[in-house]
Amino acid sequence: MNTRVLSNGTEIPVLGLGVWQVDDGVETEQSVTWALETGYRLIDTAQAYGNEVSVGKAIRESGIPREEIFLTTKFYPGGKDARVEAEKSLERLGTEYLDLYLIHWPQGGPTWAWPGMEAAVEAGLTKGIGISNFSATELQELGKIAQIQPAVNQIQFSPFEYRKALVEACEEANVVAQAYSPLGTGRHLGDPVVARIAEATGKTPAQVLIRWAIQKGLSVIPKSTHQNRIVENFDVFDFELDDAAVADLDGLDKTHGTADALSQSGKWWS
Ligand SMILES: NC(=O)c1ccc[n+]([C@@H]2O[C@H](COP(=O)([O-])OP(=O)(O)OC[C@H]3O[C@@H](n4cnc5c(N)ncnc54)[C@H](OP(=O)(O)O)[C@@H]3O)[C@@H](O)[C@H]2O)c1
Repeated sequence: MNTRVLSNGTEIPVLGLGVWQVDDGVETEQSVTWALETGYRLIDTAQAYGNEVSVGKAIRESGIPREEIFLTTKFYPGGKDARVEAEKSLERLGTEYLDLYLIHWPQGGPTWAWPGMEAAVEAGLTKGIGISNFSATELQELGKIAQIQPAVNQIQFSPFEYRKALVEACEEANVVAQAYSPLGTGRHLGDPVVARIAEATGKTPAQVLIRWAIQKGLSVIPKSTHQNRIVENFDVFDFELDDAAVADLDGLDKTHGTADALSQSGKWWS
């Protein structure tokens, strides 16, 4: 599996499975099991998703050594203390450590939760810490107070939400950007430009969108609860989008290359 090296020295796979809006229980267990069988080694969950128990069960029952799997969860920023909440996540996941623990979004400002995140590292609860839905400005504010710099910023990213300036700010800060909703939560799969490129490359729309994000240098975490799609989404390492296809996809951006993680109204771009 291709990986990116994080600022804490660990390696994050460039492709993983996301499990937002996947029910705790059989649905999550099956999705994670199928993904691990397919070769995925990165699983992305969150305290807010309510499915950490099933993610942990599927990982344990896979028989794959824990250290071969990169496990991310996210601090729900409605909570008070990120370190305490990390302990509860570990209990639910039934594992000894996290590979990555992210602040899910900058509710209450970009800095207040960070000391608790750093305390989670110091207590050995997680190897890495990072952020999600932070703008370039919020990232810079955090950088000023951080003893441990964030390793990852997980952001909404696809050709339609191509936050070019935000990704560049992450690169400058040595923060790996990770693409969530790479398929637009399914909305971008029917786009005619994506369909045309898919046909020309002999791949599917989902594969084109995932490949585009990988070629932009991001780690990408598509979600599916269907085994055939989980397999399909992983089959993106045998082709490359050429410059013309990349340029056409870049042209779909609706964010004007923003450095923001959210639109000004606080709502998602689309
Ligand atoms: N940090 C954050 O604030 C945040 C926010 C959103 C998402 N995320 C993370 O990013 C992950 C992915 O984002 P997402 O869940 O918004 O959606 P996504 O990966 O962009 O798209 C998932 C949707 O596309 C469908 N799909 C997946 N593969 C497909 C394929 N090959 N062909 C046809 N349809 C396909 C899925 O349906 P089925 O499941 O029915 O197959 C689902 O409806 C999340 O699960 C979560 O881990 C993080």
